[in-house]
Amino acid sequence: MRKPIIVGNWKMNKTISETLAFINEVDALVATDAVDAGLAVPFTMLKDAKSVAKNIKIAAQNCHFEESGAFTGEVSVSMLKELNLDYCVIGHSERRQMFNETDEAVNKKAAKLIASDILPIICVGETLEEFEAGKTEEVVRNSVAVSCANLEMEKVVIAYEPVWAIGTGKTATKEIANEVCGIVRNQIELMYGSDVASKVRIQYGGSVNDKNIKDLLTMEHIDGALVGGASLVAESYTGLIVNSK
Ligand code: PGA
Repeated sequence: MRKPIIVGNWKMNKTISETLAFINEVDALVATDAVDAGLAVPFTMLKDAKSVAKNIKIAAQNCHFEESGAFTGEVSVSMLKELNLDYCVIGHSERRQMFNETDEAVNKKAAKLIASDILPIICVGETLEEFEAGKTEEVVRNSVAVSCANLEMEKVVIAYEPVWAIGTGKTATKEIANEVCGIVRNQIELMYGSDVASKVRIQYGGSVNDKNIKDLLTMEHIDGALVGGASLVAESYTGLIVNSK
């Protein structure tokens, strides 16, 4: 039985005071052993978020794979470790598209995070163009093959996020989402065997909200969600967790 993992991705939104107010409002409401509830907040809010969250796991939205050095604007995994973070999202499609993040870099980041006991949430997914050209399977398999190479997969979560469904209100149907999450699982099976593949948690992401989460979670290969817009509002974030139990 794979425990559902629901993580809000705030992207570049909210301030420290808004973050504290949000977590103080929802933290007790989402207390449950049945679901792992997380929030990925901007770097400047991590320390405060971590200091008030008792039930919500706190995640960074990126990290660098080098330990230290001349990488202006970057944050290393050991810096995140000092904050006792739980998770770190890597390879989000916005970072791939706007900041040239590659599968190779994602793989290095994941290895560093695992070594520091921070759970990497590795995002993969095809663009609208690739989807329409029928290349989803090829793109997703290649991305998983490189980003997840030589990792302790028991310590990794994968998020399948079709780029065309992010922030557009177009959720992939639960059948499509499940089919591609199944492809991700099969790729992990080819790389690591069926035992590992049956344990790895795979999230779906792209216009998930407190209304459609329940239905998505009924699907065989969908073990949670990475949620943007709907995670910014206290009521819908709470609904997401409550409806995932
Ligand atoms: P969305 O974003 O839920 O607003 O579509 C998902 C994501 O980018 O992780």
